[in-house]
Amino acid sequence: MSEAFPNDQLEAVARTIAELREADAVRLTQFKVELLGRKNGRLTQILRSLSTLPPDERRAVGQRANQLKREVEEAIAAREKELHTGAKSGVAADLSMPGRQVWRGAIHPVTAVIDEICEIFRELGFSRVTGPEVETEEYNFTKLNIPLDHPAADMQDTFYLSPGVLLRTHTSPVQARTMERYKPPIRIVVPGMVYRRDAFDASHSPVFAQIEGLAVDEGITFVEFKAALDYFAKRFFSPDTTVRFRPSYFPFTEPSAEVEVQCQMCKGGGCATCQYTGFLEIMGAGMVHPAVLENCGIDPERYSGYAFGMGPERITMLRYGIPDIRMLFENDMRFLQQFAE
Ligand code: DAH
Repeated sequence: MSEAFPNDQLEAVARTIAELREADAVRLTQFKVELLGRKNGRLTQILRSLSTLPPDERRAVGQRANQLKREVEEAIAAREKELHTGAKSGVAADLSMPGRQVWRGAIHPVTAVIDEICEIFRELGFSRVTGPEVETEEYNFTKLNIPLDHPAADMQDTFYLSPGVLLRTHTSPVQARTMERYKPPIRIVVPGMVYRRDAFDASHSPVFAQIEGLAVDEGITFVEFKAALDYFAKRFFSPDTTVRFRPSYFPFTEPSAEVEVQCQMCKGGGCATCQYTGFLEIMGAGMVHPAVLENCGIDPERYSGYAFGMGPERITMLRYGIPDIRMLFENDMRFLQQFAE
């Protein structure tokens, strides 16, 4: 009776093939081991014991075993493919399938840049403060030494909500609010949104962010002003970044400067981004105008200070080589995901 033994075993294996074709991923892995496992696989063992069989039987059993082995291998491969592609509907869940990636959200690149800038100034002793987006003409213009007949105060450029009330066109009014409320020494940075009646194109947006800075104390000189902004630029961009101050004009500072850093794209060599100047403007700045100190109840004979204002969208664009400001407002996930951790 022992002759029938391998044949019985082979037919038992043959019957499992039908079951194998319906197996889920876990069961399929078990089948592989049970049938083809190198040590104890049922087919493996039969093939290994061929030499113990009488020669005439050896041939038949060997042929059948090898044929079954091919069938099993093919059935396993086919089932694996099916489970992988989910080709057959109604099959059990494939527990070996990796989990789906879940988008957990991330900090917007402009927000990240604002936080980073405020953090650098925090190291220099600046506190982060905010102010209202709906402002009065008085804070947005008059206290900052901007006369109401100045073009900036024009209806063409400013969103007026009612006579004398508007959406702030810059974060500078928070300078005045802070100086009125606190005694020097004052060192603040003010991130926030501002509004202008501008087009929405590659380089303009009617709403954008600004970060205002203000330092007021006894004995603040132009030297401290330059040193602080130079330190900032080197920390934010890179330690070997060159910074230059170009004379400019703002009603609320005297003297005024435009602060420029070496172009991050060409490292100063000249390219389309910096219009072949090797430098990029990153902020307006200057020594606080004595009239502004006085308007806010601070004695300009005793105190002096510096102020600056920068655009985080522009700085984000310069840092990452983003060609169009609208990309920062569209919230296209394909764009934003590039900045996720
Ligand atoms: N308020 C200016 C603007 O919106 C930016 C600015 C320039 C702010 C010079 C300042 C400054 O504090 O000193 O364009």
